[in-house]
Amino acid sequence: MVEYDKDAIVYPYITEYIRREIPPRKGILAELEEYAKENSIPIVQPETAQLLSVLVWIKRPVRILEVGCAIGYSAILMSEGLAQDGSITTIEWDADMAQEARKNIEKAGLSDTIHVINNDAKEVVPTLTSEYDIIFLDGPKAHYIYMMNDCIRLLRKGGLLISDNVLYKGMTADDDHVIRRKITIVKRLRRFIQAQMQRDELKTVILPLGDGVTVAVKK
Ligand SMILES: C[S@@+](CC[C@H](N)C(=O)[O-])C[C@H]1O[C@@H](n2cnc3c(N)ncnc32)[C@H](O)[C@@H]1O
Repeated sequence: MVEYDKDAIVYPYITEYIRREIPPRKGILAELEEYAKENSIPIVQPETAQLLSVLVWIKRPVRILEVGCAIGYSAILMSEGLAQDGSITTIEWDADMAQEARKNIEKAGLSDTIHVINNDAKEVVPTLTSEYDIIFLDGPKAHYIYMMNDCIRLLRKGGLLISDNVLYKGMTADDDHVIRRKITIVKRLRRFIQAQMQRDELKTVILPLGDGVTVAVKK
């Protein structure tokens, strides 16, 4: 039986079915899923991981930027679909988490491929200058809106901006679901979604998958 968040954004039986159909991950990814569960570390949900994996395999990116690395799970997952000599830069502000990620990345033999920057993404992202084929936002939700211009600047034409947790347990979609102390995050996520939808440079879809994901392509 799958364990659910009580605020799941789709009917639990749908999620249960989707998760049942996803082949179990092997090796270090399976170990990290277990470790994350035991230590309450928020990694991408299985169905979101599968979406990420599919998008990376479609794109075969040379460069990926990730905001919010945690223990390196999604970065290692995405590395499977990189182009030859491709690389991932991932930003994590928590020093212990960044250290754990580096340890896992080394264990996976990916130290030359995945580079962890241990700093606040709000400071780092505006300083970046490389072009990226995929940017995955999975860090500070209240700050997605403020990172959007930089993400557009950093994406290649045809590049993807993938952002997790945008429906935020359904709160983004409906005032009645909003928990008072989350109101600022929710308001900013709404602005972020609207801005992505309205920007001429982007074509965006909102997917009710996991905790809600937007996928935007840079035109
Ligand atoms: C949901 S977790 C990332 C999970 C990871 N993408 C995965 O699926 O394996 C979000 C991470 O973002 C980090 N984070 C939050 N705010 C941040 C910031 N301003 N700069 C960098 N990292 C941040 C948190 O410490 C946390 O580890």
